[in-house]
Amino acid sequence: MGSLSSMNNIEPAGKSFPNVVNINPLDPEEFRRQGHMMIDFLADYYQNIDKYPVLSQVEPGYLRKLLPMSAPDVGEPVEAILEDVQKHIIPAARDQMLTKIGRHNIGKLVVYGSDQTHCALAKAAKISGIAPHNIRAIRTKMETLFGLSPESLRTTIIKDVNAGLIPLYLCATVGTTSTTAVDPVGPLCNVAQEYGIWVHVDAAYAGSACICPEFRHFINGVEGSN
Ligand SMILES: Cc1ncc(COP(=O)(O)O)c(C=O)c1O
Repeated sequence: MGSLSSMNNIEPAGKSFPNVVNINPLDPEEFRRQGHMMIDFLADYYQNIDKYPVLSQVEPGYLRKLLPMSAPDVGEPVEAILEDVQKHIIPAARDQMLTKIGRHNIGKLVVYGSDQTHCALAKAAKISGIAPHNIRAIRTKMETLFGLSPESLRTTIIKDVNAGLIPLYLCATVGTTSTTAVDPVGPLCNVAQEYGIWVHVDAAYAGSACICPEFRHFINGVEGSN
C-alpha cells in the first residue's frame, strides 16, 4: 500500500537540480480516463453495497501496519490507489467502540472539537448516530490563538465521564477555516490517549502547508493520532 517502489521511476529534471522531479502537465485524455475509473468505482460500490459486510472485518490498527513510513515523493498511478482503497480501506469501516460497549449505548458516546472546528464534524457525528447534545464545541481563547487547550479538553472529558458518558472521538484541526487556528496536536493526543479516544486531525484547509519542513512543527505529535 502506498508503495514506495513507484519512486524508482522518478526521473531527475536535470543534472544541476538532481532532486527536482519532472512533473507532466495535465493531459485532458488521461484526466478523463481516470475520472471515468473513479465513477465506475463508486457506481460498482453502490451497485454491490448489499454484498459488503456491515461490521468491520479487521483488527483496530491494522491499516497503520500497511502504510509506509513516509508518503511517496511522486503520485502513484490511479490504478494502484484504487486497488489500495478496495483491498485495504473498504474493509476498515469500523465500529470498535459500539462492539465494546453494546449498540444500545450509542446515546452515551461523546465527540469533541473546539468552537473553531468545521461544522463538518457535527454533521458527520449526527450522521453516525451521535446525539446532538453529545457533540462538544469546547470554547477557545484569544490567548491560545483560538487553538484548543488540552486542559479545557481534559476538564470537559472528566465532566462527561463523571456524568456516565463515554468519550469517543476528538477532532483536532491544523488550520481552522475561519481563523486558521492550529490545535496543539501532540498534547491533545496525549489527553485523548488517556481516555481511549480516537483522534482525527482535520488538515483540510491549511494542513497541506506542513509538507514544507519549516511548517512541520505544526503537526508535532501527529503520530499519536489515529
Ligand atoms: C478545516 C476544514 N475542515 C473540513 C472541511 C469540510 O470539508 P468537506 O466539505 O470536504 O467535508 C473544510 C472545508 O472547507 C475545512 O476547511
